[in-house]
Amino acid sequence: MPKDKKYSAIITALGMYVPDKVYDNKYFESIVDTNEEWILTRTGIRERRILEKGGTSVLATNAALDLMQRHNVKAEEIDCIIVATVTPDMFFPGAVNAWGFDLEAACSGFLFAFQNGCALVESGQYKKVMVIGADKMSSITDYTDRNICILFGDAGAAVLIEPTEDKSLGLQDSILRVDGSGEDSLHMRGGGSLNPPTHETVDKKMHYIYQDGKAVFKVAVKGMADVSYELMQKNNLKSDDIAYLVPHQANMRIIDATAQRMGLSKDKVMINIDRYGNTTAATIPSCLVEYYRNGKIKKGDKIILSAFGAGYTWGASYIVWAID
Ligand code: UT7
Repeated sequence: MPKDKKYSAIITALGMYVPDKVYDNKYFESIVDTNEEWILTRTGIRERRILEKGGTSVLATNAALDLMQRHNVKAEEIDCIIVATVTPDMFFPGAVNAWGFDLEAACSGFLFAFQNGCALVESGQYKKVMVIGADKMSSITDYTDRNICILFGDAGAAVLIEPTEDKSLGLQDSILRVDGSGEDSLHMRGGGSLNPPTHETVDKKMHYIYQDGKAVFKVAVKGMADVSYELMQKNNLKSDDIAYLVPHQANMRIIDATAQRMGLSKDKVMINIDRYGNTTAATIPSCLVEYYRNGKIKKGDKIILSAFGAGYTWGASYIVWAID
C-alpha cells in the first residue's frame, strides 16, 4: 500500500448466489467408489451446489444483483467490474457505464482481483469498483474421477469497493505470490491456445481439472500458513488482534493448519466448505457475505484473507472492516 495514498479502499456492499441443486456426499457413493465418511473426514465437505443451466455469468450476475438489491446500488453508478474466474462463459455484460475485465488466478483469483480493485479506488480515479469471484467448477470437473469430483461446487459472490479518507479502515497490506512450479500437480491442459479443443483432447479428458491431491496439499498447507503468518508479522499483528481469518475453502485440514500457525481458535475462522465445497474464486467473498449477514463482523474488525491455488498462486491480505 503506498504510504502517501489519498484514499483507503473499503468494502461497502456484498452479495452472493448459489444454485439450488445440491450434491451431497451420499450422491457420490452412487457415481464413484467413495463413501460419506471418507469425504467428510478428508475434506470437511458435506455438500456442494451445482448450476444445471447456464454458465458462470449466471453465478456472477446473480451475485452482483443480490449486492445491488440489498445495498441499493444502481448499475449506472458502478465504474468498473472485475470478475475472477477460471470458468468464464463470455465477457460479463453487467452495467451500463462500467468498464471491466476478467482475471484468472484460480483459487487465489478473488484475492488478486480484490488487490486490483482496491488499487483502482486508492488511486482516486474510480469510486465504485465491483469485484466478483465466480466459478462453475462443475463444468470442468470429471464426475468419474473420485479424486476430483467430490471437491468442487459452483457459486458466485461480489463485493463493492469504495474510497474513504480514513486510512485506518479497508485494505492495509497484502503479500501475493505466483510460482509456475505447480503446473504438473494441478492443471487443465486442454482448451487454451496450447491445446485447442480437438477430438483427441476431449478423448484424453484434457478439459477437466487434474490434481495430484497429496502434492498440492503439502504446498498449500505451507504456502497459506507461511504467507498469513508473514503478513501478521509485517503488520505487528498478534493472534488476539485478529477478528477473523478468511481462508480459501479447499480442505478443512489446510484451513486448520493455517489457523494453528496463526494462533487462532476455531471461532475466528470463517468456514463454509461444509455447505459449498471448493468454489474456487467464490470461497473467500462468500464467507465474507455469510458472516456479515449473520452479524458476526463489526466495524474495526481486523481480518486476514488468505488463499492458495493452481499455478501456484497464493497470498494474504489484511483488511479492517469498515461497515456495521
Ligand atoms: O483449491 C486448489 C488447491 N487444492 C487443494 O488445496 C487441495 C489439496 N489436496 C487435498 O485437499 C487432499 O489431498 C485431497 C482431499 C484431494 C485428498 O486427500 P488425501 O488425504 O491427500 O488423500 P490421498 O490423495 O492421499 O488419497 C488417499 C487414498 C488413496 O487411496 P490409496 O492410493 O492410498 O489406496 C486415494 O485413492 O484415498 C483414496 N481416495 C478416495 N477414497 C475414497 C481418493 N479420493 C477418494 C474418494 N473416496 N473420493
